[in-house]
Amino acid sequence: MGRVMGKVAIVTGGASGMGRADAELLAAQGAKVVVADLNEADGQAVADSIGGDALFMKLDVTNEGNWQTVISATVEQFGKLDVLVNNAGVLAMGNIVDTSLDSWRKVNAVNSEGVFLGCKHAIPAMQESGGGSIINMSSVAAIHGQSFVAAYTASKGAVRALTKNVAMYCKEQKNGVRCNSIHPDGVATPMIVKVATGKDTATQEDIDKLKHVENICEPEDIAHLVLYLASDESRYVTGAEMLVDNGSTITPPIGV
Ligand SMILES: NC(=O)c1ccc[n+]([C@@H]2O[C@H](COP(=O)([O-])OP(=O)(O)OC[C@H]3O[C@@H](n4cnc5c(N)ncnc54)[C@H](O)[C@@H]3O)[C@@H](O)[C@H]2O)c1
Repeated sequence: MGRVMGKVAIVTGGASGMGRADAELLAAQGAKVVVADLNEADGQAVADSIGGDALFMKLDVTNEGNWQTVISATVEQFGKLDVLVNNAGVLAMGNIVDTSLDSWRKVNAVNSEGVFLGCKHAIPAMQESGGGSIINMSSVAAIHGQSFVAAYTASKGAVRALTKNVAMYCKEQKNGVRCNSIHPDGVATPMIVKVATGKDTATQEDIDKLKHVENICEPEDIAHLVLYLASDESRYVTGAEMLVDNGSTITPPIGV
């Protein structure tokens, strides 16, 4: 028996990295998964490789109309919505002085507004089927700050705070919807290659090299927590911020 047998899940950013691992594990544990991403070719390939009930749907998380379409198409196809993994994200390098307003807005549009729109439109659909679980991908950047990614840090801080707002709203409404945030440190995906190497694109070799760096885990390490939060095993967990950081936020900075 799968741990999320029969549940219906949307995973944003499902075409790559952590979203792909989340979609694969949820499907392996019995969920019907919608892989939602801007990247049609890779997203379709992920859905095809999962097979079974998995579907790809094109979604730009910054576009409210796209959200309405994807959520109603999911409910039409599978009859309900149980799980939303708000995982899609982008990163732009730059400290507070270097970051342009344009870059700030682009990062926050995807990472912060995208999560807002996902929560806003998923809650009524989940409520219809008696509840659900929203899992928001934040970062350790929201906990201790990362000076080299100012816009990203602020966007993940917004996700952390919004998660608690959503959890509280849903608790007050008694609608059965839970909402939690996950805060990884480094995860070996194309995104972290950008941070570590300054490259715009990542080969598998680039990603593999990072797997051995301290505090950089693999997408599956995050997917196991996503699975727990998606399942009824976590039915009493809401408004929580869950670290997957090998203790990086409790380790004193080098030199202390
Ligand atoms: N990799 C890390 O070290 C790390 C650490 C902490 C948090 N995170 C967060 O985890 C999440 C996944 O990151 P990843 O490392 O797997 O990155 P990734 O770059 O491998 O994947 C991100 C995915 O998001 C999609 N995407 C980007 N903009 C989108 C949009 N507007 N609409 C829909 N999809 C869009 C991309 O097409 C891509 O498939 C992100 O929110 C990221 O900020 C990553």
